[in-house]
Amino acid sequence: MAKVGISIIICTLCSLAIAVVASPIQIHAGFEFLGTVEGKIFVRPILGPGSDNLTYQDAIATCASAGYRIATLESQAQNDIAEQNLRWSWIDGIDLQTPDVFFSVNTGKNLTYFNWGRNRPVIGKDDRNCIRFSCAGGVCEWLDVKCTDKYTVICQLLVQ
Ligand SMILES: *[C@@H]1O[C@H](CO)[C@@H](O)[C@H](O)[C@H]1NC(C)=O
Ligand SMILES: *[C@@H]1O[C@H](CO)[C@@H](O)[C@H](O)[C@H]1NC(C)=O
Repeated sequence: MAKVGISIIICTLCSLAIAVVASPIQIHAGFEFLGTVEGKIFVRPILGPGSDNLTYQDAIATCASAGYRIATLESQAQNDIAEQNLRWSWIDGIDLQTPDVFFSVNTGKNLTYFNWGRNRPVIGKDDRNCIRFSCAGGVCEWLDVKCTDKYTVICQLLVQ
C-alpha cells in the first residue's frame, strides 16, 4: 500500500514537471492562473485594491488591458475550472438585445452552454443583463445580475 501511495505521488510530480516543461504558461503581471482546458487558459486578477470592484464594462477592460478576454465558459470542463475561483466574478454573456437570449461579447454568437442557478435567468425584460459566476457553500452557478454591480472577473486566453 505504501509503495503504491509513493509511486502515485512520484508519478503526479513527474507529470506536473513534464506538463510545465512541455507548455510553459506565462501569466501577465497582476493576474493568476486558474487552469487550462480545451485550448484556453483561464486567469483572474490577483486579489488586491479594486480587484473586486469591477463593473461588467470594467471587467472587459481589465482582461483586455493584459491581452486577455472576459472568459466565455463553453463547456462543463471550462466551467469546472472557473469553479476553482471562489470569488464572485463576471463571465462573458449579455442579453442586451433580446431578453434572456445571452450572447458572447467576444464572438457575438448566442451562448449554448449555461450553468444557471435555480430560476435563472429571471424571465422577461429587465436590467439583469450580465452574468455573474457565483459560488456559495461549495456550489457554483450562474446568476443574471445588473451590469453595474461590482465583482472581479475571470479572463481567458486562447492557446494558439
Ligand atoms: C471602487 O470603485 C468606486 C467607484 O466606482 C471607487 O469610488 C472606489 O474607491 C473603488 N474602491 C476600490 C477599493 O478600488
Ligand atoms: C440568437 O438566438 C435568438 C433567439 O433564439 C435568435 O433570434 C437570434 O437570431 C440568435 N442570434 C444568432 C447570432 O444566432
